[in-house]
Amino acid sequence: MQEELKKIVSNAINEIKEAKKENDLLNIKSKYLGKKSKLAELMSNLKSMSIEEKKKYGSLFNKIKKDLESKVNERITEVNVTKDIDFDDTLPVEAKLGSLHPVTIVAKEVTDILKRMGFSVVSGPEMEEEYFNFVALNIPDDHPARDMQDTYYLDNGKLLRTHTSPNQVHAMQKYGAPIRMCAPGRCFRNEDLDASHENTFFQVEGMVIDKNISIGNLMYTMKELLSAIFERDVDVRVRPGFFPFVEPGVEIDCSCLICGGKGCPTCKNSGWIELCPGGMIHPNVLKESGIDPEVYNGFAFGLGITRLAMMKYKIDDIRVLNSGDLRVLDKFNVE
Ligand code: PHE
Repeated sequence: MQEELKKIVSNAINEIKEAKKENDLLNIKSKYLGKKSKLAELMSNLKSMSIEEKKKYGSLFNKIKKDLESKVNERITEVNVTKDIDFDDTLPVEAKLGSLHPVTIVAKEVTDILKRMGFSVVSGPEMEEEYFNFVALNIPDDHPARDMQDTYYLDNGKLLRTHTSPNQVHAMQKYGAPIRMCAPGRCFRNEDLDASHENTFFQVEGMVIDKNISIGNLMYTMKELLSAIFERDVDVRVRPGFFPFVEPGVEIDCSCLICGGKGCPTCKNSGWIELCPGGMIHPNVLKESGIDPEVYNGFAFGLGITRLAMMKYKIDDIRVLNSGDLRVLDKFNVE
């Protein structure tokens, strides 16, 4: 009997697969599962079987019935979805090519330049642990610097990273020293929106750790990087900056390319755009990540690439970049 059942099942499955119409499938269903089917005939033998056999074959029959029924139903759904659609093939088609987002273009440019300078590219999570976003970066719980970054805390105890600097710690812990890495990524801060502030923005983190690194290495790297990005000499200025994970810390500003330094809403009428904070990595951060600050030191920077894209493409309102407005974004079509 088992051989016979096997044959019935395999025939039924083949017919179900081949069927192309709902009606055919309903016929197959009644052929294999209906009252006059071979299966029904075999089932009637149950009566004369021992209790043991009844149990065994009873549940086998039920399983076969259920399986075949669900196969028929699945196939019915399939054939109905793939029904031929009538369409007018004389209608003109307007196919629009997609394009890369300006921030994506700039992020790629920046990482390409850094790669040529020997940096490797790494990445880390956008949903980050407090430890990596703050604690390991020398920003303990009660540190006032936490107020500088309006953090989105999540119900699961994690947070949306407020900067790409947690990647410094990830990279140090994973690869040790010496290291030269960059990490592009999206960051989040609970900011009031205006022409130059968004709650979602992109940075590229850069970090070099080796023996005898100096702030001169940082300045040179930034100068090379910014000139390569803007493909011309831009004015830059350096101010002292404060970040708990660097000492000393610096702010590198570049002259506003939108207004040429005269003052506009993008640069808050100052003529300068804050582009790139950086500094020498604090010994506490090296220590926390298992690198001996007596042997190694290094620099880090956090380039704001959303701002950079605005400068480069003369976009005067940061909000446009997250708007998905194709009238703007289409301008950056690349082949
Ligand atoms: N992570 C800092 C910020 O976003 C920038 C920074 C990076 C400063 C690296 C110093 C060194 O505010």
